[in-house]
Amino acid sequence: MGQDNYLFVIAFLIVHANISMSFFTCGPDLKCSCTTRPSGAIAMDCKARNVKLRQVCENIAQIYPNVSDLNIARNNIGSINAKDMNHCRNISSLNMNYNQISSLRSGVLKDFRNILTLDLSENVLDIFNNTAFDPSVLPSSLRILKLYGNFREDSKLERSFAYPNFTKLRNLAMLQMDGIETDFGLEYENSSVKNLTLSSQGPLGFCSIKEIFPTTFHSLANIRVLDISSCRIENIYRDAFKHMKCLEILDLSLNRRLGFSSLKNITYSLQFTNIQFVNYSRVYTSFGVGTIILNRDICYLRNTSLKAVAFDGNNIEMIEKNTNLLLPKHLETIYGQENTFTFGLYLFQFGCLENVLHIHANNQNKMHSPIKYFAEPTSKNDNDRNRDSECPFMTEESLKSIAKDIHDCTYFPAKETVAEMKPQFSRSLKSIYFSGCNLVYSIDNTDINISPSNNTIEVLDFSKNAFHSLSGRIGPFPNLKFLSLSRSYCSFISSEILSMVKLENLQLDQNYLGEMFAHQGRGDTFEYLTHLKTLNLSTNRITRLHKNIFSRLKNVENIDLSSKNIEMFDVHVTSLKNLLHLNLQGNTVHKLNHKTRQLLEDNSMRIGKNFTLDLRNNSIEYSCSNQQFLYWLLDHKERLQGFHEMVFYRLNGSSVDSTAFLREVPHLRAQCRSYTVAIVLSALGVLSACAIIIAVILYKKRWKLRYWYYMTKQNYFGYRRLVNDYKDDDYRYDAFISYSDHDLHFIRDEIIPRLENRGMKLCVHQRDFLPGIPITDNIVDAIRTSNKTVVILSKTFVKKQWCIFEFNMARMESIDKRLCENGCLVIVLYENVPAKEIPLEVMDWIDNHSYIRYTRDPDGQPLFWESLTTAIEH
Ligand SMILES: *[C@@H]1O[C@H](CO)[C@@H](O)[C@H](O)[C@H]1NC(C)=O
Ligand SMILES: *[C@@H]1O[C@H](CO)[C@@H](O)[C@H](O)[C@H]1NC(C)=O
Ligand SMILES: *[C@@H]1O[C@H](CO)[C@@H](O)[C@H](O)[C@H]1NC(C)=O
Ligand SMILES: *[C@@H]1O[C@H](CO)[C@@H](O)[C@H](O)[C@H]1NC(C)=O
Ligand SMILES: *[C@@H]1O[C@H](CO)[C@@H](O)[C@H](O)[C@H]1NC(C)=O
Ligand SMILES: *[C@@H]1O[C@H](CO)[C@@H](O)[C@H](O)[C@H]1NC(C)=O
Ligand SMILES: *[C@@H]1O[C@H](CO)[C@@H](O)[C@H](O)[C@H]1NC(C)=O
Ligand SMILES: *[C@@H]1O[C@H](CO)[C@@H](O)[C@H](O)[C@H]1NC(C)=O
Ligand SMILES: *[C@@H]1O[C@H](CO)[C@@H](O)[C@H](O)[C@H]1NC(C)=O
Repeated sequence: MGQDNYLFVIAFLIVHANISMSFFTCGPDLKCSCTTRPSGAIAMDCKARNVKLRQVCENIAQIYPNVSDLNIARNNIGSINAKDMNHCRNISSLNMNYNQISSLRSGVLKDFRNILTLDLSENVLDIFNNTAFDPSVLPSSLRILKLYGNFREDSKLERSFAYPNFTKLRNLAMLQMDGIETDFGLEYENSSVKNLTLSSQGPLGFCSIKEIFPTTFHSLANIRVLDISSCRIENIYRDAFKHMKCLEILDLSLNRRLGFSSLKNITYSLQFTNIQFVNYSRVYTSFGVGTIILNRDICYLRNTSLKAVAFDGNNIEMIEKNTNLLLPKHLETIYGQENTFTFGLYLFQFGCLENVLHIHANNQNKMHSPIKYFAEPTSKNDNDRNRDSECPFMTEESLKSIAKDIHDCTYFPAKETVAEMKPQFSRSLKSIYFSGCNLVYSIDNTDINISPSNNTIEVLDFSKNAFHSLSGRIGPFPNLKFLSLSRSYCSFISSEILSMVKLENLQLDQNYLGEMFAHQGRGDTFEYLTHLKTLNLSTNRITRLHKNIFSRLKNVENIDLSSKNIEMFDVHVTSLKNLLHLNLQGNTVHKLNHKTRQLLEDNSMRIGKNFTLDLRNNSIEYSCSNQQFLYWLLDHKERLQGFHEMVFYRLNGSSVDSTAFLREVPHLRAQCRSYTVAIVLSALGVLSACAIIIAVILYKKRWKLRYWYYMTKQNYFGYRRLVNDYKDDDYRYDAFISYSDHDLHFIRDEIIPRLENRGMKLCVHQRDFLPGIPITDNIVDAIRTSNKTVVILSKTFVKKQWCIFEFNMARMESIDKRLCENGCLVIVLYENVPAKEIPLEVMDWIDNHSYIRYTRDPDGQPLFWESLTTAIEH
């Protein structure tokens, strides 16, 4: 084996080892799955694999001593022996969730010196019976302990309960447990717990604590996060949280019976904490009479470090005037979603929210599903609660001084009524979420001035309202970056409304703007948005777009036109030097033009990022005429979003899925080539057949055509002199003699003297043709101005072109024009001409008409002259 081969084998082993080590099957009968952490420790997942604890631990001891995490949840373990666990004692994290465990004997976890996390949730441990459950069996190294879901409500007999004494767990930082009502509360010394969750959120947790006394959480001096959501709390005493100096997050949500009367007590005790966020959502019933927030409820918050507060889903209708002034100075985020806010003076005091950055107020007046009424505990009706408070911040002087310090803040005195007001935003505000609030507005050529004009608002989400038509001007919003007016029943929006020069993301999806785009003369809707990066026009019933609609969007990267009705995407794109993502999903596009394709490729190359194109659910034509585009798609299939869902359509309507497409497109060119050849050949065939037919017709009618030609020529360009010289019954000549020069002597010696002696006037070309005029014109003229044309048929006559020409012209004249009794053409057979030498048309004439045979026999001659004279004269 050469050195190269060795290297190859080693490389292979390394690669193979890496792959197989990061994720592999393990455990008894390889029922579990293992993953290796970068540190080398292994996490073994045996959740719901129907394994025995003992087997798993033995397997770990024998094969995988570095297993540090074991998840053996949902294996119906039941009771545990110390021996079962012995071999697992080195692990640091053990999950035994949902295992029907009813007791933990002492010694079971005794030697687990490294364990940090233990999950015993959703078992049947009787943890609130101090004789049944001894917390001292738990290893003192534990940092995270999950015990929730061990209390079933139906076990609530007439007995006393007490929280376990966790004094020995000196490292415990996070505790999740069921919440019960006790006289003592959680009492154990020097608690190190930082996160405590006593919530019944989740499927099996249980929490029912009617009142929170100052003693309930007395020992939790180090707590930072307290989650007592969904605990059926009804009343909270004034000093309940006072001793929690480190408290940062307090979650009181979903205590529907709590209402707002206790809020004063809560805010009071929060003054003594390090509170950052309070979740006071859904503490009031969703149905029924709305509620009001009073100054006295939140007054003490002014003396806290609160940064964010949530009041979602509380059916709040009103905020007392000047309440906004009492919100903490450093408050940054307010959640007030799913309420029923009505108009009030508080709306004019948004300028007082000095440092507030974000207001989330989505889904006001939310409609509740009529078929899904969740039975909720009714809150106490506390709207008539006393408005008094000793809180020092809500006195008139205090409120006035707060208002004085804030630039755009107005204080409303207690008694005076307020006249005309303008809404104010605070100078720090960055985002307002006001989606789904049933706002119904049409703004028609009205100017709405936003104050202050140098506001810092960057995000405005007003989607899911109803703005039927937006024209005029709202603003200014000199810093706005994101604007959503999605699903707002909007059918008109003017370029002035959209004159937010810094806008980067505009969401206009799910409106009715298609009609406007189709009839818009100038395509200027987006003319001010030169910074725009994302434009969403999805689902707008767009059929047509003005060619210049996107021309000014020179920074746009992403255009979403997924909709239903676009048939052709042929707007001007050359200025879109940053466009990389085009979504045309669900339209009826057949192809994408060359310019757009080229633009995407060029942009991608220049910017160094891949472009993406979404053409799913379109009607892309699978045909030879579209083959260039199809080849382009094949070349860029990685750039096509959801290529495998794409379907192409043949001209006969049958579809080609992406697999068939990949298989067949490479052969398309060849197919189309033979197809082209076939088309060309059949076209040629048809053409030549036509040509032959036309040629035959032309040949057959050649004399007629020539005759017409000359007649026309003469009528329009010829010599009027000649034309006007005669009338139909008044010819200049009695006969035009057509003959071959070879027979000239016969004409000169016989025809002319004999006939002219009888008083006839003959036209003989040698004598009567006008010089300087084309011979054809002379001939046609002679025929037309002579009563009859006499053809002296001889062997040479049939060979001379001009003679045949004269014959045919005379024939045509006689067929076409004149009503000569015996034809206008008199044929004199001067000598015997062999039948095969006579041209067809002459032969044909002779067969169908009479002719006069010349005879050299002196006896016959008088008869000949007689018949000739008669033929000419009649
Ligand atoms: C636990 O780890 C120690 C070393 O850290 C090792 O000596 C011992 O064998 C391990 N025990 C088991 C049961 O894997
Ligand atoms: C507590 O547990 C012990 C031992 O399992 C049992 O004898 C006792 O009845 C329980 N106490 C209550 C009040 O259920
Ligand atoms: C909790 O246990 C510790 C010792 O483990 C003991 O000193 C303390 O009194 C107990 N607390 C209560 C309230 O029983
Ligand atoms: C305590 O809760 C906070 C917030 O929920 C979380 O970020 C933190 O990681 C938790 N601490 C522990 C030890 O789980
Ligand atoms: C507030 O705290 C006081 C004193 O601790 C207590 O009497 C009262 O019940 C608590 N609740 C309300 C709603 O006042
Ligand atoms: C503000 O809170 C502190 C505790 O952090 C408290 O000592 C002080 O009395 C409070 N101020 C007022 C005016 O209530
Ligand atoms: C407040 O609590 C509710 C209910 O538990 C929860 O849905 C919501 O996300 C919480 N709010 C925040 C901002 O965490
Ligand atoms: C456009 O809006 C639709 C929802 O109507 C959304 O699914 C899509 O992600 C949005 N596109 C962009 C580019 O923001
Ligand atoms: C696209 O077509 C697929 C399959 O025909 C269909 O399931 C899907 O709903 C369509 N999507 C859209 C946005 O029309």
